[in-house]
Amino acid sequence: MAILVTGGAGYIGSHTVLALLQRGDDVVVLDNLCNASREAINRVEKLAGKKATFVEGDIRDRACLRDLFASNSISAVIHFAALKAVGESTRMPLEYYENNVAGTVVLLEEMRDAGVWNFIFSSSATVYGADAPVPYVETTPIGGTTSPYGTSKLMTEFVMRDFAKAEPKFKAIALRYFNPVGAHESGEIGEDPAGIPNNLLPYIAQVAIGRLEKLGVFGGDYDTPDGTCLRDYIHVVDLAEGHLKALDYLSKVEGYTAFNLGGGKGVSVLEMIKAFEKASGKAIPFEIKPRRDGDLPAFWADASLANTTLDWRVTRGIDEMMRDTWNWQSKNPDGFR
Ligand code: NAD
Ligand code: WQD
Repeated sequence: MAILVTGGAGYIGSHTVLALLQRGDDVVVLDNLCNASREAINRVEKLAGKKATFVEGDIRDRACLRDLFASNSISAVIHFAALKAVGESTRMPLEYYENNVAGTVVLLEEMRDAGVWNFIFSSSATVYGADAPVPYVETTPIGGTTSPYGTSKLMTEFVMRDFAKAEPKFKAIALRYFNPVGAHESGEIGEDPAGIPNNLLPYIAQVAIGRLEKLGVFGGDYDTPDGTCLRDYIHVVDLAEGHLKALDYLSKVEGYTAFNLGGGKGVSVLEMIKAFEKASGKAIPFEIKPRRDGDLPAFWADASLANTTLDWRVTRGIDEMMRDTWNWQSKNPDGFR
């Protein structure tokens, strides 16, 4: 039996495929490469000393899914495939709903028809919306999302919830990630954003290698200790390990359930800059800019449910996140290209 990983050539997917292969699982990767490179999987296979089956295809392509389920014996699906740029989603909402929500519905239908019932979904802290009290806890009702991207994650969780109510065989876990950063410690795989990065750490890393001139810090007057926003950054390898724990837990799940995957601590933008400078030995020039539309001042996870139920917790701190980001970026200044 193999694990199907959709979006497995992407940032979080590739780290998870590596962890699966390293523990001996067989893996089938389905990715349309709209935001990833085949090279990521080549490197994963090299690191693991084991091959994955790679299918270049789309989760919305029924014929492709049917063929995949018919020719591979799949025990569970880890579903990363999605479009993920918050700003872009406000300009292209239909594309986001079609890819992320309708695409997941097609995937679930084809899983049902193939008799595959185990499902892990990449959700996001963004499903808690703008008004949830911090730290975010799974018992807080989800909703109040502020972008089509966030709403696509929320809608997909509702799809999972309702399908699980109707189909007792379906077992589903939504993992709500906080802010994934870092790279595998080998420096062979990492985050490779197309164009100018939207997210903080890839931006900082590209300033450090000289591809970008200086960082704009979005807002210095928030009601936080240093005036900049707080986020719960989580090392991508810790996050990948969370998926393995969730897979192991699926057999105990009744229907649909959700877990926060975060470290449980808020770190400011200025603290991130300082930590990166310490790890890389590079100065990061920055300038305080106006607040970015839609940014929340501060949020972090209450991850105690994942700690106790999945027996999962973060083991890598900010220093490892920065060390591994810098190692990846300096070894691969142009990413996988
Ligand atoms: P990513 O873009 O690196 O990975 C997504 C992968 O899915 C890419 O390889 C892309 O080519 C593929 N893909 C997209 N649409 C597809 C389709 N229709 N068919 C087949 N493949 C398709 O992003 P990531 O950062 O690795 O994120 C993985 C998942 O985690 C996404 O669902 C994302 O929304 C979610 N997530 C990410 C973050 C984050 O900050 N990175 C935070 C919370 C949740
Ligand atoms: C972090 C902090 C910025 C860039 C986003 C999505 C979220 C999730 C993860 C998927 C904020 C500040 C950033 C820059 C800056 N994705 N910043 N200058 O916004 O917390 O979350 O990615 O689910 O849904 O919204 O992450 O890395 O963009 O920002 O000052 O050039 O860094 O204002 O305070 P964010 P981020």
